[in-house]
Amino acid sequence: MDETRFGIQKIIKIFGSDISRNALVKAEASGNIPLASRRDTGTLKRRAWGIENLPQISEQYGFLKHLNRPTALSIFTTKGGVLKTTLSLNIARMAALHNIRTCVVGLDMQSDVTTALGFNTDLEESEDLQSAITRLNSTRGLLNVFKGEVELADVVLPTDIPTLSFIPKTPELVALDQLISNKNRREYWLKETVIDPLKQQFELVIMDCSPNWNRLITNALVACDTLVSPLECKINNFRNYQAFRVFLEEFRKELKLDFDFVFIPTRFTSTRKLSAEIRSWYLAHVSGCINGSIRESVHGEEAVAQHVSVPEYVPNSLAADEMREAILEIWNRLMDSSKKQKVPKGIRPTSQLERSKETFTLTNG
Ligand SMILES: Nc1ncnc2c1ncn2[C@@H]1O[C@H](COP(=O)(O)OP(=O)(O)OP(=O)(O)O)[C@@H](O)[C@H]1O
Ligand SMILES: [Mg+2]
Repeated sequence: MDETRFGIQKIIKIFGSDISRNALVKAEASGNIPLASRRDTGTLKRRAWGIENLPQISEQYGFLKHLNRPTALSIFTTKGGVLKTTLSLNIARMAALHNIRTCVVGLDMQSDVTTALGFNTDLEESEDLQSAITRLNSTRGLLNVFKGEVELADVVLPTDIPTLSFIPKTPELVALDQLISNKNRREYWLKETVIDPLKQQFELVIMDCSPNWNRLITNALVACDTLVSPLECKINNFRNYQAFRVFLEEFRKELKLDFDFVFIPTRFTSTRKLSAEIRSWYLAHVSGCINGSIRESVHGEEAVAQHVSVPEYVPNSLAADEMREAILEIWNRLMDSSKKQKVPKGIRPTSQLERSKETFTLTNG
């Protein structure tokens, strides 16, 4: 079977929705969704769509709806290996498959979402060292944007899903981190030069962060509308979380930021008592913690290695169900946040302005 084609059953399972086979067949016949190719399976000719058709199909049958305003997420916590990149990949691909124009920004100089998205994976198989170096050097990133050598649009690359793009991490992010430090308004460079302009073109921007709180992370926090933070269900992270939360609150207060928080329990092992207890503690004590969790699973790991989301890789598994549920919960939070009217700093909401005018009139009248 061609793994890159999607039959009716697989589509139904990926989106985990109430779509029926008949509904899809009728929608195809009436032109509401793209025409499928026919896969010859011997006795039957089965319908199969390419991944490029999925956004249009899920627009009608998926479980994620468009947000009320362009939204930027930073996926960050100060602990390594807790599934930040895995969540970036899964949220990005599922959103893009739901026809939500999405751009991922790789901000981790080490392992990051660029590799998870499948970029440069065949580098080792390229003919020789020289061509590999040439290819690497031709990859432009945020440092080139910073230096004014390229436009932002030049570093946004496409993926196999038409609604998903990304800005790759490049080794020069280290230099960028240093250069930003020497700028005026050094916390705002990413927001003003990269993320806000991306929000003109994309509905969702996801920043995959490193676990080290450097200048780029400070910029990512300033630029985001919501911080998505994994909470590993392990004892070391339990301690890490408490310190992280204090830092975060201080940082938010100092810079007068108003991003929202969503915390997601990850690497949960239901058979381990300690893991279960830690998860219960998070649920009871961490405001912004979702009810769902991402469990420790080989399927989850394999999906990353295949550069796809868990629902695409093993649509019919517990891991896929949990990932869909976690993403839906995050999405509902984003929906709620995007309904809140955010007012640019320095501008008072009309109602407040009106009220103060009233007060002025009363006191002077
Ligand atoms: N459900 C899962 N269970 C266990 N391992 C997983 C699961 N999903 C992904 N993994 C693997 O766990 C490893 C760490 O995950 P990931 O890279 O997402 O963490 P991270 O928080 O981004 O790490 P870093 O701080 O190094 O950037 C990866 O090799 C990934 O493939
Ligand atoms: Mg990572």
